[in-house]
Amino acid sequence: MDRADVRQHITELNKMDTPQVLFKNRHADRIATREEYEAGGGYEALKRILAKGGRAEEQAAIKEAVLLGRGGAAFPMGIKLSTVADDAPFPRYLVCNADEMEPGTFKDRVLLHADPHQLIEGMALTAFAIQAEKGILFIRPEYENAARILEREVALAREAGYLGEKILGSGFSFDIDVHRSGGRYICGEVTAQLNALMGRRPNPQQPPPYPTESGLWGQPTVLQNVETLCCVPHIVRNGAEWFKSLALTEAGAGTKIFPVSGRVNRPGCYELPMGIRLSAIIEDHAGGMLPGSEFKAVLPGGASTRFLTREHYDIPMDFDSLKKAGHRLGTGAIMVFDHKTCMVAATLNLIEFFARESCGWCTPCREGLPYIRDMLRRIENGQGKEGFIPILEQMSRSLWNSYCAFAPGAVSPLESLLTFFGDEVREHISARKCPFGNPPTELSDNSLPRA
Ligand SMILES: Cc1cc2nc3c(=O)[nH]c(=O)nc-3n(C[C@H](O)[C@H](O)[C@H](O)COP(=O)(O)O)c2cc1C
Ligand code: SF4
Repeated sequence: MDRADVRQHITELNKMDTPQVLFKNRHADRIATREEYEAGGGYEALKRILAKGGRAEEQAAIKEAVLLGRGGAAFPMGIKLSTVADDAPFPRYLVCNADEMEPGTFKDRVLLHADPHQLIEGMALTAFAIQAEKGILFIRPEYENAARILEREVALAREAGYLGEKILGSGFSFDIDVHRSGGRYICGEVTAQLNALMGRRPNPQQPPPYPTESGLWGQPTVLQNVETLCCVPHIVRNGAEWFKSLALTEAGAGTKIFPVSGRVNRPGCYELPMGIRLSAIIEDHAGGMLPGSEFKAVLPGGASTRFLTREHYDIPMDFDSLKKAGHRLGTGAIMVFDHKTCMVAATLNLIEFFARESCGWCTPCREGLPYIRDMLRRIENGQGKEGFIPILEQMSRSLWNSYCAFAPGAVSPLESLLTFFGDEVREHISARKCPFGNPPTELSDNSLPRA
């Protein structure tokens, strides 16, 4: 799609029946202004809650709305907020996670560019709920344009009295700083991100203590994803029942932004009801498979989820339905693969990323991922052996013993490759080449498989 197609596509999307909540003010060619956000009811929730000191009401609405974290872990935001005790010490911090380095995921970037005041209001409301006076937007360095947009719009929000000292004449003060990440995938993990913000090496840290008790500089800290925070003004304004009613399934709540990429006619970022079927996303919204392409598999929630095959083509896309099927919705980033895609090469591509991004703190992940990468390279290049398969199976299990959630996510595509596409792996080994005709890739000299 060229730029004109994208504009046309967004214009069509805006006309569709599907309720656009987070993308209500999304334009094809520009950022929504503060005035536009206000005209659509923006900042009303903040005004109302500040005027009546409605912290308890706000917390209850978020809890009842069953707002599950959109950053990948699906933790209920209402429960997280309630773990900041009333008598917890001050100052308290709110961090917005805009790191978004999960391959295939580009929803937070689109949200930041589409309607920055939605996020600012979501942050101000959340900060009020936990009485935080300082907010930090942690953003990946490649999103420099978004960082500048946020800096500019934060200043405009301050001018209008939505941020700063004694917001809107209330007794509550809150402001936001934009912090550019040094640029590593692990900085997206909550505890690593807090370490990075404190100027430490960004290693993850196992709780306890949880960040809500002892986070930034030992103070109570709540960290949420961009999309999660963007839902907050709408829940506070329209109520928990309204939010739940947006979903198509009983277990779902709200809408979800699905970034779709791969072998479809219209890759893009779609706001759709939680619980919509995967087949409907691909066929009705992403324009179906490319001419000459047949559906083979998807990664349903970014690179650290398991492949879904044809068996699950009609699965409702909500956290619960995927969990019941033994999968994860993750970030909701859908990567579509067709019958011409070599699944060994696709998995290798992801493992190359994870092996590079391991923070190196613990041995199974630091040593295991390059080892897996080299085995997959050999299989893809026609130098694999049958003996590699049980080793890969065993490693995809043993990496679950790593220190943080990075490694189990990293081996999810590998485990599901072996489960669902074992025949394809064996074909590479017996044919001594890639059956899809991929040319051999460069092999590294270290960590040679011993099988
Ligand atoms: C390796 C790794 C990378 C992560 N990257 C991100 C990220 O870029 N953005 C994000 O919001 N959450 C990311 N997460 C999830 C966060 O740890 C955390 O659960 C989330 O930001 C909390 O916000 P939420 O509850 O609103 O989703 C990552 C987790 C792991 C293990
Ligand atoms: S699992 Fe990987 S990313 Fe997590 S602490 Fe260990 S080495 Fe670091």
